Amino acid sequence: MKALIIGAAGQVGGTLAAQCVRRRIEVYGTSRKGQGFLYLDLADAASIKDSFEKAKPDTVFLCSAMTHVDNCERDPELARRVNTVGTGLVAEECSRAGARLVYFSTEYVFDGAAGPYDEEAPVNPVSVYGRTKLEGEQAALAAGGLSVRTTVVYSHNPASKNFIMQLISNHRSGARMRVPSDQFSNPTYAPELASAVLDLVEKNASGVYNVVGPDWLNRYDFAVKACAALGFSPDFLEPRLTAELGQAALRPLKAGLRTEKLAAKLGRRLPPVEDSLRKIAAIMKQYE
Ligand SMILES: NC(=O)c1ccc[n+]([C@@H]2O[C@H](COP(=O)([O-])OP(=O)(O)OC[C@H]3O[C@@H](n4cnc5c(N)ncnc54)[C@H](OP(=O)(O)O)[C@@H]3O)[C@@H](O)[C@H]2O)c1
Repeated sequence: MKALIIGAAGQVGGTLAAQCVRRRIEVYGTSRKGQGFLYLDLADAASIKDSFEKAKPDTVFLCSAMTHVDNCERDPELARRVNTVGTGLVAEECSRAGARLVYFSTEYVFDGAAGPYDEEAPVNPVSVYGRTKLEGEQAALAAGGLSVRTTVVYSHNPASKNFIMQLISNHRSGARMRVPSDQFSNPTYAPELASAVLDLVEKNASGVYNVVGPDWLNRYDFAVKACAALGFSPDFLEPRLTAELGQAALRPLKAGLRTEKLAAKLGRRLPPVEDSLRKIAAIMKQYE
């Protein structure tokens, strides 16, 4: 495999790049900043073409997106340029180059009325982020790609603002943390996500696959479990209803994804949330 990871400085892209290296897969990464990456902006067609010419990939992992859900709601034009149009451009380049496309999609393609959802459930996004990611997914699937739907991705990554890093940062600074108690989902450990996605690619999977952790729980309960694993008192957590948080974009509340299709393809599910949180606790101990 000769891989191009678009968004290799992000949480998922960076984790995937590390696992490609471990599996001795030849890999190129893109970012809009930083050394050692090819420059690629999804809103700039020439930079996409240029990265393909330099890397000549046979497999493209599209991890980049405008991922800030409320910023997408505030700037829907930019969200569409990046998540919809940009993905369409990448899909076109993949078709031209004969490369397979692996797209990272989301549970936000659903309205959250009746989760957890399987791959066949009817979509109905309730936010600009969800709509533009769905349009990106449709472009990826039209190009014969694999769309990996995932949720609440976390890892120990000081460069990331993922939920667990926010929790650690709030605990360290003594800040209180308001956490929604009515958003249900499947927290997904980034290294386990990356490993399952590479296994799916090795098995030539295409179409939609849900790749998420096995535990379906609300965000507050996830935070409490994280505190238990990391040795924090949960007193700084404040459970709140989503409606009280004043967020710009609507959230799917009863969301989350089912993984029977993944389990049938790979013969395994991702490990339980407690196992992954324990790994984070072990990594943190190394830094203390
Ligand atoms: N994190 C989650 O909980 C979650 C859940 C469901 C789905 N997903 C999907 O999984 C993928 C990876 O998520 P993540 O957690 O790794 O997100 P992330 O850490 O926010 O990384 C996203 C990357 O997108 C890049 N990016 C943003 N705007 C761009 C643009 N105009 N052109 C090119 N790159 C741009 C940024 O790279 P540079 O700044 O380096 O250019 C950033 O590193 C995304 O597609 C996301 O929608 C994530």
